Amino acid sequence: MEPLRPVRVPGKVILLGEHAVVYGQPALAAPLDRHVTVRMEPAEALTFATLPATGAAALQEAMERVCDELGRPRVALHLESELPLSAGLGSSAAIAVAIVRALAQAQAIPLTLEEELRLAERMEETFHGRPSGIDHTTCAVGRPIRFLKGPPASFTPLDVSKLELVVAVAGPRDGNTRQKVMSLRAAWEQDRAAYDARFAAIGRLVDEGAALLASGDLPGLGRVFDANHAALQALGLSTAALDGLCERMRAAGAYGAKFTGAGGGGACIALHPEPEALVAALAAQGTRAFVARWKGKT
Ligand code: MEV
Repeated sequence: MEPLRPVRVPGKVILLGEHAVVYGQPALAAPLDRHVTVRMEPAEALTFATLPATGAAALQEAMERVCDELGRPRVALHLESELPLSAGLGSSAAIAVAIVRALAQAQAIPLTLEEELRLAERMEETFHGRPSGIDHTTCAVGRPIRFLKGPPASFTPLDVSKLELVVAVAGPRDGNTRQKVMSLRAAWEQDRAAYDARFAAIGRLVDEGAALLASGDLPGLGRVFDANHAALQALGLSTAALDGLCERMRAAGAYGAKFTGAGGGGACIALHPEPEALVAALAAQGTRAFVARWKGKT
């Protein structure tokens, strides 16, 4: 048997367009240089030997869904994450992709990207109900993308020549992604035309943001972050902690800030002329933050 290589998959950050993406609008997302790692060792049966702190039952259930297709290699899986869990930074999507890759590797099953995405989506459905697919696609592709749900889902790589983003964690979430997506769906069912118009407005911000990103206009992109945050806030998806963190980052000189992911707590992102200085200012206020970087043509 070939040696079992560790599988590393990045987390993700949604730059613009979360939630509206579920309704067919475009969204921009990028991988993070923080990863989930699955290590494997031979064992009597397929088991989890090490798990992140939460979600063991959901993880087991999600894995069962892909074992039907991928089989059950006799390995013990050790799962480690550098990502803050449940912060909207793609830990579940990265875990899904990493487990699919690990199960395939252990049985020498070659998978195309399409197959990987389809299997990871089956796992993500356990965690999130009916996700758009942007999270696991970004984690699997490993480069900044503009994503459309479709069907069929599609993505195009983004031309990000240099981008530095501050990612800051506001705190625990008041519900998971599935709950946030479902409660918005219930509101949409009540008044589809009004909600579709609001999602279309977010879609226009996404395209404006993509053009500003391509031209390197960070102050302009920051204003689009602010507008996207306000649109998500108006949809009832933000919290006092997320709004307060965005305000603190703007007061510290950010060009703009928004929450990222499903909302109800979790993380915010900001553009700032001196990202490290913002991280230091946030650390002094007791807020966990880091700089995420992308360089060169993708
Ligand atoms: C969560 O990271 C992104 C959402 O748009 C849900 C989805 O696209 O599946 C909130």
